Amino acid sequence: MVRIADIMKKASGEEPERKRPGREKPEEKKPARAPAEKPPSVPQKPPPGPGAPPAAAATPGRDVLAEYQAAVEFMRKQLVQARAGSQLDPGGMKQVVLGLVKALGQDPDTLVAHIMGPYGEDYLPWHSANVAVLSLKVGLALGWNEQELLDLGASALMHDIGMSSVRENIISKEGGLSRSEMEQIREHPTKSAEILAHAKGINEVVAGVVEQEHERVDGKGYPKGLKGDDIHEYARVISAVDVYEALTHPRSYRKRYVPYEALKMLMEAGRSMLDPRVVKVMVEELSLYPVGSVVKLNTEELARVIHSNKNAIMRPVVEVTTDSAGDPLAEPRVLDLTKHPMVHISTIEREEEEEDD
Ligand SMILES: [Fe+2]
Repeated sequence: MVRIADIMKKASGEEPERKRPGREKPEEKKPARAPAEKPPSVPQKPPPGPGAPPAAAATPGRDVLAEYQAAVEFMRKQLVQARAGSQLDPGGMKQVVLGLVKALGQDPDTLVAHIMGPYGEDYLPWHSANVAVLSLKVGLALGWNEQELLDLGASALMHDIGMSSVRENIISKEGGLSRSEMEQIREHPTKSAEILAHAKGINEVVAGVVEQEHERVDGKGYPKGLKGDDIHEYARVISAVDVYEALTHPRSYRKRYVPYEALKMLMEAGRSMLDPRVVKVMVEELSLYPVGSVVKLNTEELARVIHSNKNAIMRPVVEVTTDSAGDPLAEPRVLDLTKHPMVHISTIEREEEEEDD
């Protein structure tokens, strides 16, 4: 079982790296920790919306969000490098993955709530960082060791690097794609694998995993139509997370689903397309009512979810913000639904913009 505290120490540079048992892997140079890059023009996410973490979590979450922002900016640069046919940065990749593991150890609720918010400029860097965060959360829950988390995290970050070869007007096209455009999109896992196979200093397992991220356990995925355990377990995690992440964010051709709906859709898909073990972990880890969700209780009061209860996924801790008539309370009231069996969540409130259409 991985110990997050050890990885956090390493990510902070407090402890020299130690080799740990993991999956078989060729010897790889351990790149020196690159100096922390804080580019002056990092695009920031828009102000917190309904999916934002509660204000009380803002201070402890500051470092956590800096790690996330570093991951987004790193991916922005890697996509530019890939487009130019230039080398990727394995040292930076490792640093980013360790930073995200550290962030998940520090304040997972804040980080996961934050990534449910809207993307900033361009969707791919944000999507790639989000898939890495969620994949690592699943890997941690499965007790994977440090080397496994490094490879999983690198694969998740890079899973769509092959999209760098797809024209922007196809990626952002509204409405249906032509057959040739669809073919270009469907080539991206193979392109990702080619890019990573030629990258120096990245574990060879990563190229194999990214090639399989659109395979489905029922054999109906692409590019090879692999089935079940023939798909690498990292790819099975990334494909389930990829679906969830995509559903919870808008695309040019559709609106977003709230996490509750997305997890329900995943549970349906988990019966055939996705690995049910991975989906089960995601439901336990992400909760049907993620932190930041606005819900209506059976008392007609509105409340915001502030903590999930892992052993009672339907009964999180909420902060009640209105009375039963919908009028704001002067003092929000914290309610742990596991301790109030007569109170339960009746509905998830949709964001206003989604109701308008
Ligand atoms: Fe993809």
